[in-house]
Amino acid sequence: MAHAPETIDAYLADHAARFEGQLFELLRIPSVSAQPDHNADTRRAAQWVRDDLIALGVPAELIEFDSGHPIVYGERLDAPGQPTLLIYGHYDVQPPEPLEPWLSPPFEPTVRDGNVYARGATDDKGQMFTHLKAAEAWLKTVGRLPVNVKFLIEGEEEVGGKNLEAFLAAQTRKLACDYAVISDTSQFAPGLPAITYGLKGLAYFELRVQGANRDLHSGTFGGAVQNPLNALCQILASLKGADGRIQVEGFYDDVRPLEDWERAAFAQLPFSEADFAADLGVAELFGEVGYSTLERKWARPTCDVHGLWGGYAGPGPKTVLPCKAGAKFSFRLVPDQDNRTIAQAVRRHIERHTPPGVTWELEEMHGAPAVLVDTTTPGFAAATRAIETAFGTRPVFIREGGSIPVVGLIKQHLKVDTLLLGWGQNDDNLHGPNEKFSLADFHRGIRASAHLMAELAG
Ligand code: BES
Ligand code: ZN
Repeated sequence: MAHAPETIDAYLADHAARFEGQLFELLRIPSVSAQPDHNADTRRAAQWVRDDLIALGVPAELIEFDSGHPIVYGERLDAPGQPTLLIYGHYDVQPPEPLEPWLSPPFEPTVRDGNVYARGATDDKGQMFTHLKAAEAWLKTVGRLPVNVKFLIEGEEEVGGKNLEAFLAAQTRKLACDYAVISDTSQFAPGLPAITYGLKGLAYFELRVQGANRDLHSGTFGGAVQNPLNALCQILASLKGADGRIQVEGFYDDVRPLEDWERAAFAQLPFSEADFAADLGVAELFGEVGYSTLERKWARPTCDVHGLWGGYAGPGPKTVLPCKAGAKFSFRLVPDQDNRTIAQAVRRHIERHTPPGVTWELEEMHGAPAVLVDTTTPGFAAATRAIETAFGTRPVFIREGGSIPVVGLIKQHLKVDTLLLGWGQNDDNLHGPNEKFSLADFHRGIRASAHLMAELAG
C-alpha cells in the first residue's frame, strides 16, 4: 500500500461538501476553554469530536479529570507491524473578544473568498479535523487504516491546562508511538506548504511592584517616595538594549547558534522584508542586530511586554502617585535555553535593576522548552512526499516563532519527535478577530494526511 488508493481520493472528492458542513457544525460550538460560562459548550465540543470519531470507525472516549476539560482519546490499531501515529489536536479555542472588529460573528462560520471565518477555524478545529476525515476516507473505503493511529484531542491547550501532561506522564504505554503528528502551524505562504522543524520555547512572567501603602497626591508626596510605576518602567526598560539584545545576564549562554546551512536556507525562501514591513504598516522592522527578520522570528530569542497597568489611564488628567503597578512580559526561547534557568536569571536581573523604595513579586506563568525535530527520519520524508502529492508543491522546511508546549512533553514522555504539518497561513488571524482557514487548504490537508498514512506503511 505504497500509495493511497484512488478510491480514497475519490471518496474525499465525493464527500468534500459534507466535510465542510461538519467543520462548520464544530465551529458553531463556542468551546472557549478560558471562560467558565462556556464550560458546557467546551464539553459539547469534546463530545462532538468523540461522536465523530466513533461514527467514522475509531472507538473513542472522553477522559475525565477532577477539574478542567476532558481529553478525547480514540485509537484504531489494526496494522500490526506498521508504524503508529499519535495525532494530537485541540478542540478548545481562544476567547473571541473583542467582538466589534469581527465582520461576521465568531461562532457563525461564514465563507468569504474561499475562506471560512470563525474562531477556531485554523487554531485548531479546522486543522485537527483534517486528520479525522483522512481516517474516515480509509475506513469507509479500504475498511482499515494502513498504519496504527491514536487520536489525542485536548480541550485545555489555550489555557495551558495541566491535565494533558498528567495524562501523558501516566499513560506512556497506552500512548506509545513512532511519530506524533500535529497540524497547528502555518504554511510558508499561499501555495508554498511547509514542514516546521523548530518551535520557540517560552518563559512568561507577571511582575507586580508595590510602593506606599496607598495612592498619594503626586504634588504633596512626589519627590518623597518611589513611584512603583516609574520603577516598573525602569525594570522593563532594562530588559532589552536599543540594539535589540536582551540584557539579562547569562541569557544567551545556552543559545545554540544558527547553523550556516540554516542561514543559507532561510535566505533562499521567497521573503521580502520590505513587503513584510508594508503589510504590517511599519516604516521599518526592528530586532536583534546582526540577524535577518526570518532568523529573528524563528531562531533567535526575543523579549516582549504584553501588558502594563497602574495609576490612572481614564479620561482627563489625574495627578496620582500610584501605590502599585504591574506588567506581563515574556521571552521566546530557542534551543538549548531552559525556561527554569531563564526564570532564575530574570529574577536576579530584577533584583539588580529595581530602584530603591519598592518591593516586587514575580510570578512564572508559562514555561515551555524550544524544540527542534529530527528532519532525517523516514516519517519526515514520508510527510514531505504526502504534502507534495496533496499540495502539488514540495514543502519547504521552516522554523516558527510560536510555541506548542505539548511537542516538548511528547518528546519527554514518549521519546518521539513530532511532525509539524501546518495547513494554515500566517495571516489567518489566530487568537485575533476574523480568524480564518482556507477551505482549499482544508481539503488539501485531509488529502495529505490520508497519503501520509499510506506513505508511512511499509
Ligand atoms: N498554534 C499556536 C502556536 C503557533 C503559532 C505555532 C504560530 C506556530 C506559529 C498555539 O496554539 C499557540 O498559540 N501557542 C501559544 C503557547 C503558549 C500559550 C504557551 C503561543 O505560542 O503563544
Ligand atoms: Zn492557539
